[in-house]
Formats: sequence, structure tokens, C-alpha cells
Amino acid sequence: MFDQLEMAPPDAILGLIEAFKKDTNPDKVNLSVGVYQDKNGNTPVFQSVKKAEQFILSEEITKNYFPIEGSPEYARVVQELILGKDHEFNAQRRAVTVHTPGGTGGLRVGAELIKYIRPEAKIWVSQPTWPNHANVFRAVGLEMESYPYFDAVTCALDFDAMLSAFQQIPPHNVVLLHGCCHNPTGVDPAPKQWAQIGQVLAERNLLPFLDFAYQGLAKGLEEDAQGVRILLENSSEALVVNSFSKNFGLYNERVGGLTLVAGSLQSAEAALSQVKSIVRRNYSNPPAHGAKVVTTILQSPELKIEWEGEVAEMRSRIQKMREQFVKQMAALGVKKDFSFIQRQTGMFSFTGLSEEQVQNLRDRYSIYIVKTGGRINVAGMTEKNLPILCKALAEVLSE
Ligand code: LMR
Repeated sequence: MFDQLEMAPPDAILGLIEAFKKDTNPDKVNLSVGVYQDKNGNTPVFQSVKKAEQFILSEEITKNYFPIEGSPEYARVVQELILGKDHEFNAQRRAVTVHTPGGTGGLRVGAELIKYIRPEAKIWVSQPTWPNHANVFRAVGLEMESYPYFDAVTCALDFDAMLSAFQQIPPHNVVLLHGCCHNPTGVDPAPKQWAQIGQVLAERNLLPFLDFAYQGLAKGLEEDAQGVRILLENSSEALVVNSFSKNFGLYNERVGGLTLVAGSLQSAEAALSQVKSIVRRNYSNPPAHGAKVVTTILQSPELKIEWEGEVAEMRSRIQKMREQFVKQMAALGVKKDFSFIQRQTGMFSFTGLSEEQVQNLRDRYSIYIVKTGGRINVAGMTEKNLPILCKALAEVLSE
């Protein structure tokens, strides 16, 4: 079976961690994968998570299976976080939420559902997008196309080009959008633009598929959900995938969700039954621990306040790093204006470095960033590694 097998290429993002670990340079810097690091370069467990875990440990009386779709309490807290309190979808029971192993699990389940319902549908993703989108969608046999998104000259959203591309997409296709903190560019539509996007997608009968993995890391938990909520106001149907890897720091617990909005209660129930079959034949039912942590925190007023504070702290540290990066690059006399880094939000920034420059950073300075567009994980910058990064960048850019 395995004798003739060729090596698969390393993953565009996670593959860099393996290379980083092998690097013996004591000054190596890892700004590849989207993982938050505190000022000491650690990725600690949130205090609110620790407390919730202690509670779960003392109360837990069984490790029995979760329902295929996950627990109803989890579905409720996820919907409240994404849609807001007392959303009309809840009263109409048009929204159903399935607990998935991380956001990637949610994307996979959502993609399989689309393939099952409409095998000929194409999925349209932003240019650029998270590299793993292509892997997930192609794995289920969905054809993928892209729409313009990022203006490399202004380092901002190319809204007109994006909207006119949407106007050309044939009906019954799917449009993937990043709910906030666009990965990899850090550039999001403004609320008014979200409304326009929603109108065009509705007019053209296109299904919005939202990848919402960074809620709370741009402007705030409520503020970051604004785009998704505005879009849903204009949509009779939608899929929203969320992840708690970043905003709860629960990376290795694999906890996320797929929320499906349908036109009626009956359609939502039918869609949920199909989603459950997909889950059952993939991983049977979801892992419980991370979801229990999230549910415990979001159901406890005290823990929720503590968690919101921890998210706010992450957000403000990321913003501080953005400011310091821009300052240090200017202080080094670098000609390129990096002020756009301060306007971008979330974990990532798109530096626009060429693949060769990215490779130089890695080979000569042991600095690891993602090749596509020179994506930097700003959330991995620290006071200690920033001078090393900026000096190396300045040297690479001057050549
Ligand atoms: C990233 O883009 O770095 C994160 O979403 C982590 C991942 O799984 O790629």
C-alpha cells in the first residue's frame, strides 16, 4: 500500500512550525501560525478557562457521548455570541448550531453539506484567503473560484472590484467571507459595505458562508460581530463557522461551531438532520471538553466578565505591537510606509513581501512568516523579538 507513496508537501502554515522547531538559532522568531503570545512569548491558558476547568473536573460525573450535534447549551451560547442576545432567528427557530472540532471542522461539515445539496455549486473565496480553505473545499470536491479583495497599492479593501465580481457570480453559488480580522490581510469591510454585500448576495441568490474565527480580536466582541449580523439581516439563508481557538485560547481542544440559518423552522430541521448524517460519518460526535469550558464561561456572569477582560487584553497588546512595529520600521529609516499595519486588524498583517524576501528572512535570520503575501502573525510579536524582526526586515527590504 505505502511503498510507492510520495511525500505530501508540508502545510503552508503548520508546516512552518516543524521547520521552526528544528532551527537551532537562539534568536529565531516564529510569526507564522496564528497563535497569540503574551509579552513573554508564551501562549498561556486563560484564567477564566482554568477556573471553568476546575469546576468541570469537580462536577463531571460521566464521559458519555455528546449528541451528534453537540450539547443544546453550547448551541445556545454560540448563537448568543454570534447573533447577539434574543435574536429573531432564535424566536423563529431558523438557526441551528452544531458543535464542530474547531473552525476547520465546521468548514468541512458546511462544505460537505453544500456538496450534498448542490454538487455543481462553486465556492468563491477572497483573493487572497487562508490557504487551508482550498484544501478543505477541494477535498469534498467543490470547485473553487476567487473574487478580488485586497488592493496591494493602498493595502486596503478593493471594495468596488469585490462588489462588481459578486454581481457576475451565477445564482446558487456560495460566497465565502471572513466575518472579521480577514486572514491573511487584516482588512475588513466597514458596516455600510457589509450591508451592500448582503444586498448583492441576496439579489443574486448567493449563499453567504462566513468564516468567523477571530471574534473579539479586532475592535471588541460585539463590534466584531457587526458585519456578520448586518449580512444576516439581508440573508434568508447562511452558514456561519466560528472558532474558539483564538478568543478562548482553546487551540488544541478543537472547539468551534457551524451555525446554519434557513428560511423556516422546517428547512432548518431538515438541514440539521443532513448535517448530523455528515458528522456521524466523519467523526461521529464532537469532543466534549472545550465546549464544556466555553459553555461554563459564557453561562457564568463572573467568568464571562473575566474572559471578556482577557480578550480585551489580547486585543490591546496586538494593537500595541502594531504601533511599535510601525514606529521601529520608521526609526530604522525604511522607505516603505508601513502605517497600513496600524489600520489592519486582528492577528495578521499582510506585508506584501515577495516569496524571495520571505525565504531570505527564514534562511538568513531564522524569522518564520507565511509565504503568501508575507503574512505576519502580529499576535506573535513581543518587545523582545520586535527589534530582531524589524532590523532583519529593514535589511531584506534594502536589497
Ligand atoms: C492561521 O491561519 O495561522 C490559523 O488559522 C491556524 C491554522 O490552522 O492555520
